[in-house]
Amino acid sequence: MSVGYMEKLIVEGGVKLEGQVNISGFKNAAVAIIPASILSAGKCYIENIPHIRDVYLFKDIMQELGVDVELDENGTMMIDSSKLDKCCATYDLANKMRASYYLIGAGLGRFKEVEVAYPGGCNIGTRPIDQHIKGFEALGAKVEIEHGVIRCRAEKLVGAKIYLDVVSVGATINIMLAAVLAEGTTIIENAAKEPHVVDVANFLNMMGADVRGAGTDIIKIKGVDKLHGCTYSVIPDQIEAGTYMIAAAATGGDVLINNVIPKHLESITAKLKEMGVEVIEYGDSIRVKALDNLKSVDIKTLPYPGFPTDLQQPMTVLLSTADGTSVVTESIFEGRFKYVDELKRMGANIKVEGRVAVVEGVKRLSGARISVTDLRAGAAFIIAGLIAEGTTEIENIYHIDRGYEKVEEKFRKLGAKIKRIRD
Ligand code: EPZ
Repeated sequence: MSVGYMEKLIVEGGVKLEGQVNISGFKNAAVAIIPASILSAGKCYIENIPHIRDVYLFKDIMQELGVDVELDENGTMMIDSSKLDKCCATYDLANKMRASYYLIGAGLGRFKEVEVAYPGGCNIGTRPIDQHIKGFEALGAKVEIEHGVIRCRAEKLVGAKIYLDVVSVGATINIMLAAVLAEGTTIIENAAKEPHVVDVANFLNMMGADVRGAGTDIIKIKGVDKLHGCTYSVIPDQIEAGTYMIAAAATGGDVLINNVIPKHLESITAKLKEMGVEVIEYGDSIRVKALDNLKSVDIKTLPYPGFPTDLQQPMTVLLSTADGTSVVTESIFEGRFKYVDELKRMGANIKVEGRVAVVEGVKRLSGARISVTDLRAGAAFIIAGLIAEGTTEIENIYHIDRGYEKVEEKFRKLGAKIKRIRD
């Protein structure tokens, strides 16, 4: 997918970030709400959609399926799936992004029949979908995987009690999508509690669904006959906000991060404070002010409200120049330390053993030519470039554009020396 993507980011290190940054709508909520909208034949207007590649890809996927989709400059997406009479996403469409698996829950919910090619996605470890399938089957669907295509069919969907063996954001959301139009009540136990699970539930309720308990580990969905169109605004991006918080701390800067929900950032706030960073929460903004000589801390990624795996990489960069030794444990995705080899080329002292990385703080990183391995590693490399001595050349930035809106513009506004060039 990245073939032909010849743009690079050039980052000059040594600037303390200062000023204000506005956070965009949450990518991971948007890529679930967009497909969820096909559960209703009415028009949906979804506001605060970020202008990022994953959203553009999903727009293409929806259009190819036969849905009318328009996205305006202000981030409002109009979706009209009234002409859709089936949901069939081929390999060329579905393989473009992992979140295409939400078309299974949404398509099954609306048409009781769906065909979607097995999803692609970020290179961060094996990513099974057994819990999604277990949920669809519990609701009465017959699920077949043949020639790389997942086919689900049901005479009718009937509410069921589903216990998730692992806390999965994707499975929780996908089962909610399949269950909102089922007969009777569905109960998801051991559900994921992430902010975007709640956001999707709120969106579904705005369309007329009856979903309760999202944000706790038990979600109850009472099936309704029909959903209608609605207007909904996506929540701010917790991970983008966390990325700028960590960048501010790493550069010894002072940044006000606007349009955030501070509650969603508590695990990051707590860790930054433990390191000696000043973090001040306001109603919908957060100020991060760092001093020099930050202390090492240990991090373990966990489902929400634990420390998010999506910020493990930026956090490891921050720890790479902190005083002392930090232990970072990745308990969600076993392949999420692949970027460490690139960081080592910048002088970081990190040893990875399975799911654990031991980070010995060094005095400074030094600029190098590095290649992005996945979306959040890309964000981490920008931060590494900002704190390194000299110039860092970041290649394969396709991944960054998947999930960060106007990334160099936002960093430049904070004083960073960052530019995009065509190779
Ligand atoms: C979502 O992925 C996010 N993606 C990921 O963000 C994020 O890293 C992840 O949640 C964890 O927070 C989107 O929301 C689009 P999971 P998802 O199902 O839903 C295991 C980013 O950078 N599992 O919560 O695919 C799985 O292997 C992306 O923005 C099963 O075993 O993650 C993992 O260990 C990357 N069986 C754990 O559960 C299943 O059926 C959590 O995965 C499903 C998951």
